[in-house]
Amino acid sequence: MAGSDKNIWVIANWKANKNIQEALDWVAKVGPQIPKQNNLKVVVCPTFSVLSEVKKAIQVGNFPMLTGAQDLSPFGVGAYTGEEPAAILKQFVDLAILGHSERRQNFGETDEMVSQKVAQALANNITPLVCVQGKDTPVPDGVKLIAYEPIFAIGTSNPDTPQNASMVAKNFPGKEVLYGGSVTSTNVKAFVQQENVHGVLVGGASLEADEFLRIVKACEEI
Ligand code: PGA
Repeated sequence: MAGSDKNIWVIANWKANKNIQEALDWVAKVGPQIPKQNNLKVVVCPTFSVLSEVKKAIQVGNFPMLTGAQDLSPFGVGAYTGEEPAAILKQFVDLAILGHSERRQNFGETDEMVSQKVAQALANNITPLVCVQGKDTPVPDGVKLIAYEPIFAIGTSNPDTPQNASMVAKNFPGKEVLYGGSVTSTNVKAFVQQENVHGVLVGGASLEADEFLRIVKACEEI
């Protein structure tokens, strides 16, 4: 049982990985091992095309996990070819990762688009998790959950220090701030032990069920 009563979020960002079978294998391994603990929020964020199957598997297994999208449309439903609007996604997700640096870099996502996406998420009862790359990234109104993800740390095995993550988190008072960037089962504890850090956003290390479970376990003991 966690000693602290702050919320701890452990969010698996699968990025563009895992087909349906791989996703279901992961859920079957991870789901039964997630502790039922109110302040521990475990979220899995698959690709859009796998979301409905993952959601179903979590419901059937009655696993204490939430689901998230890795993005959503800045527009509503209608003539927006190729987009995934929040009004449809809300059938499957509790949360959406918005403004990830990979979207900013590879898909030209701007702060303006991020704020439109946040508005869509909020209007559809999806919790926006906005990624900031440092203390100066703007955070749209209504956002309560933030992930500090310094670009140098993403997928590099070169995480920021827990102390610096905590310092950056202090710039967002009243929000729950997670850390992301090369989180593993070895370093996760040092991040979530920081008073201002409310969990982790995990990319590469979330793909392997056993490693992800070790990360969850480490957070459970906080
Ligand atoms: P990483 O990615 O854990 O593979 O560094 C984190 C993220 O981009 O969310």
